[in-house]
Amino acid sequence: MKYQKLGSSDIEVSKIAFGAWGLGGGSVWADMSPDVRSASHLLDIAEETGINYIDTAPVYGTGASEEILGKALQGRRDRFILQTKCSLNWRQGDGNFHYERDGYTVNNCTSAAAVRKDVEESLLRMNTDYIDVIIVHYVCPSWPVSETMASLNELIKEGKIRAVGLSNSQPADLDEYAKYGNIALVQEQYSLIAPLHGQAYFDTCRKHGTTFQVYGALEEGFLTGPEQLARSFKKGDIRARLPWYEKDHKEKLKTFYETLSDLPAKYNCSWAVLFEAWTMTQYDDMNLLIGFRREETIRDTVKCLDIQLTPEDIDRITAAAEPASVETIDK
Ligand SMILES: NC(=O)c1ccc[n+]([C@@H]2O[C@H](COP(=O)([O-])OP(=O)(O)OC[C@H]3O[C@@H](n4cnc5c(N)ncnc54)[C@H](OP(=O)(O)O)[C@@H]3O)[C@@H](O)[C@H]2O)c1
Repeated sequence: MKYQKLGSSDIEVSKIAFGAWGLGGGSVWADMSPDVRSASHLLDIAEETGINYIDTAPVYGTGASEEILGKALQGRRDRFILQTKCSLNWRQGDGNFHYERDGYTVNNCTSAAAVRKDVEESLLRMNTDYIDVIIVHYVCPSWPVSETMASLNELIKEGKIRAVGLSNSQPADLDEYAKYGNIALVQEQYSLIAPLHGQAYFDTCRKHGTTFQVYGALEEGFLTGPEQLARSFKKGDIRARLPWYEKDHKEKLKTFYETLSDLPAKYNCSWAVLFEAWTMTQYDDMNLLIGFRREETIRDTVKCLDIQLTPEDIDRITAAAEPASVETIDK
């Protein structure tokens, strides 16, 4: 495993982070329902492979992911860097309507009081007395950034959190938030076939010394091999909402895989690892956040740090992806 400092903080994290959205199950990840025992096993494998960095959020399974993780972390909390989020909540009337799922109405609120409440509820759900990193899950223009950051800075002073990050944000949001304190990372969607948002963000991250943590690098499994193109998911599953399931996109992705078909054998790796290795070449201070629900995917993913793609192959992969790419993607 390789490690990096999170932005200019003193927090050292593994270059690969464990995405725990899937641990929350619910309608979005309905094909598997992980429990504490399986989460515990996944954390054992994470430790064995050197992964010390976990990402979750209150809304992942409306509390379920945090609760399962909290139990799986018992007795080893200090061996992990635990990251969760604030702003999206399912308290009645607390913020702007964001979405409805599994019988819950989820709102977005970045007021000082809401941020504090989110953090305190997460501490309780995960049965811990500190959270290493809090990410503002969806930046929101309805409350002043100065107010949100005052609340987060106060929580840092109280020792309840150690660092702050942003998500689903724009470079201008990072400029604004950075006026009020240190932003250790941004967690943003970025993939080979939806690269524009990330590319537009890298320079601003560089300017602020902020780590870019990528989510969706594998497009929820869609970039793990051509056989994925034949899969179908129930209505409501997050994966059924992605554009890649539309006929036209599927055809383009089929061509994309065919064009690159020699590369997994050349590098002796899976498609997932090939594209993860490509992702890591795109920004110097990149952190790779991958959703894990199975031991095999953890063991496979860590191999991407040992793959050295040639500059020619990096360009080839980029060029092959271009015709299959979309400009924006809403997750
Ligand atoms: N800030 C935000 O708004 C936001 C949004 C989305 C996600 N996230 C975070 O980012 C994390 C990752 O995103 P994601 O889970 O949506 O998508 P992802 O990382 O693009 O895809 C994850 C899926 O890919 C499959 N996979 C991973 N490694 C693999 C490998 N080596 N070989 C084969 N399959 C592999 C796994 O499928 P199986 O599980 O079926 O094995 C996994 O569920 C989430 O867990 C969450 O923590 C944040």
